[in-house]
Amino acid sequence: MSTKKTLQQFNDHIFHTVGRDPLWFTGGKGATLVGCDRKSYVDFFSGIAVNNLGYGHAALAKAAAAALKKPWHSSNIFLIPDQAQLAALIQKHSFPGRSFFANSGAEANEAAYKFAIKRGRMLRTDKVEIVAAKDSFHGRTMGALSLTGQPKYQDPFAPFPGNARFVAFNHLAELEAAVNEKTAAVFLEPVQGESGVHVATQAYLKKARELCDRHKALLIYDEVQCGCARTGKLFGWEHTGVAPDGFTLAKGLGGGLPIGCFTAAEAYKDVFAAGDHNSTFGGGPFVTAVALEAFKTYSKAAFLKQVVARGQDLRHGLETLRARFPAAREVRGRGLMLAVDFVPGSVSTDKVRLACRGKGLLVNSIHNHILRIIPPLVITRAEIDKGLAILEQAIRDSV
Ligand SMILES: Cc1ncc(COP(=O)(O)O)c(C=O)c1O
Repeated sequence: MSTKKTLQQFNDHIFHTVGRDPLWFTGGKGATLVGCDRKSYVDFFSGIAVNNLGYGHAALAKAAAAALKKPWHSSNIFLIPDQAQLAALIQKHSFPGRSFFANSGAEANEAAYKFAIKRGRMLRTDKVEIVAAKDSFHGRTMGALSLTGQPKYQDPFAPFPGNARFVAFNHLAELEAAVNEKTAAVFLEPVQGESGVHVATQAYLKKARELCDRHKALLIYDEVQCGCARTGKLFGWEHTGVAPDGFTLAKGLGGGLPIGCFTAAEAYKDVFAAGDHNSTFGGGPFVTAVALEAFKTYSKAAFLKQVVARGQDLRHGLETLRARFPAAREVRGRGLMLAVDFVPGSVSTDKVRLACRGKGLLVNSIHNHILRIIPPLVITRAEIDKGLAILEQAIRDSV
């Protein structure tokens, strides 16, 4: 079907919940996609930080092909061996504990939220407050949304339970003022993604840890975007050395398939009792077979080393670019989770994004002044150079 017809069908039948680009993909290899227009696209987007292993990854394809031959679904009522193996691997690389598998980042955060409330109530009945950050993003379900500190996402869907308190990100004093004996948990992204890639400082996470310990609150990290090797370490918090009590993963976890996970430390293994929480599809055999293969790759030292190296290449290229455009005020992020921030009003990054797309590069624009750059972690030096050349020309055409 033609692009025009398909777009029309979308417009006629699918809720318009997000911006819509009239393009789809018919193939891809590494960090390069092939569009329905038969053009090649260097991918600085990864389907929003999901396709960490890019396209046509041989080991993932093999795991998926083998899993396809077995039953695709059985329910968590039965054992799903790859689910347990995946949890064991996640815990081996973080800390001993227990995991719960869901289908998305929002659902993983719902599990973490319910867990925090249940555990808070075990200590005192009014220990149900959650402290979260302004500009955070934890997902679109009502629970995850109630912890998302962005009025533009919340306001149309209010009211919320009213137990969330929002503090400025990286502001130690505000955090200290907000956390008290009624706090069940502090929810933070070690690197905020959706806000435009803002890195939590070590001092901030240390303060959060100290306050949670002092008030017997849980420190929960949302690693949905910054986890799974995206920052050059398996988990984003590892850059700071400040471990949480629990954390959520999704996005890259399934190598492109939908899966989310909440893990809490061993000390909390009995908080969830049978019947407290479940998901029909969560952690099913097909998705966990593929996710296990993906996570094995993410956790290899050689893989992480390569993410660091490509992150340095990309960052160096973006810094060079920034020096050429006075309107570009900052390059920030970690590993392959980067952003170029322009002085608001100087350059429309929506326009840059479209110009990039026309020239064969996929990139994300946030708040119309930030470019978020989150390529597959398998991106090559040559693909980075090609993408950077397109980006430079697109900015030139847009200023
Ligand atoms: C940090 C973070 N948490 C949660 C979510 C929600 O994940 P999902 O869209 O899979 O529900 C996102 C999505 O962008 C995210 O970036």
